[in-house]
Amino acid sequence: MPSRRALLYMPGDNWKMITKSITLGVDCICMDMEDGVAINRKAEARATIAKALQELDFGKSEKLARINSIGSGWEKDDIAAVLPFHPDGIVIPKIESPDQIQWASEIIEAAELKYGWRINSIRILIGVETAKGILNLKEIAAHPRLDAIIFGGEDFAASVGATRTKDAVELIYARQAVVVACAANDLQAIDIVTIDFKDIEALRVESEFGARLGFSGKQIIHPAQVEPVQTAFTPNEEAIANAKRIVETFEASQKEGRGAYSLDGKMIDMPLVKNARKVLERGLKPAIRN
Ligand code: COA
Ligand code: MG
Repeated sequence: MPSRRALLYMPGDNWKMITKSITLGVDCICMDMEDGVAINRKAEARATIAKALQELDFGKSEKLARINSIGSGWEKDDIAAVLPFHPDGIVIPKIESPDQIQWASEIIEAAELKYGWRINSIRILIGVETAKGILNLKEIAAHPRLDAIIFGGEDFAASVGATRTKDAVELIYARQAVVVACAANDLQAIDIVTIDFKDIEALRVESEFGARLGFSGKQIIHPAQVEPVQTAFTPNEEAIANAKRIVETFEASQKEGRGAYSLDGKMIDMPLVKNARKVLERGLKPAIRN
């Protein structure tokens, strides 16, 4: 799986933003047909994304297309418009049951067979952002075709009637539910958008908190958000050095027959070592796909 620290959206009918996005060194570029696009511009978005997939060089950025939700009435035309040009992945919003993923999975596989592409060469990422979606996470996250779950904070707040606040305390249960479901199924977990795109300090705080919760990346909506989010979701040198030290001292202490030992006045045992290995794994991954 490519590293997906920052997933940048732009309205699929906005050619200027799409061409800008390929200059930003962002991990994922998600060209939207859903809520970022006005109802009378859906057809324009489909055509513009198809053109971008054919004509633009996305470099190392992953090229994704977000279709409208299953049942919206637009989803079939959305997916049909972009699949022939082989996006790296399809993003399906507002998933509430595994059969909705299955629907897309079968259409994608049919395209892969038709064009002679490798099976699973087009990845599936889903949005879980409604009360029903959170309740059904156990079944949803087990779908074998999935790569990542994206948690939509604004949609979720609307779905349960929560009032959004700056520290997002009203989202904590659902965010953690997504992280747990992803960890149990070896999926990436992608956190909420910071919609106040001018407030970079708030973005930094929210990104670091999301990374601490266990998210592997975050959705973004503006070029200024790329760098702070990539930084927050990359373990820094200090974290990597700490993790290395834990792993090394643990191995030595195992040889000496001690399961738990003390390092800098703190108890170290297996769970801390597992966590340290995760930090190293994230730290050593290539910055963006290669
Ligand atoms: N992707 C690529 N480029 C973007 C961008 C994005 N998401 N958002 C802004 N830009 C570009 C602008 O085109 C502008 O380019 P220029 O300097 O070459 O003219 C530059 O970045 C600065 O933009 P700015 O003027 O600060 O923002 P704006 O007022 O034009 O747009 C938003 C603000 C919020 C409307 C815009 O960022 C946006 O549409 N974001 C995506 C929203 C979306 O997709 N929502 C659905 C998913 S949650
Ligand atoms: Mg949404």
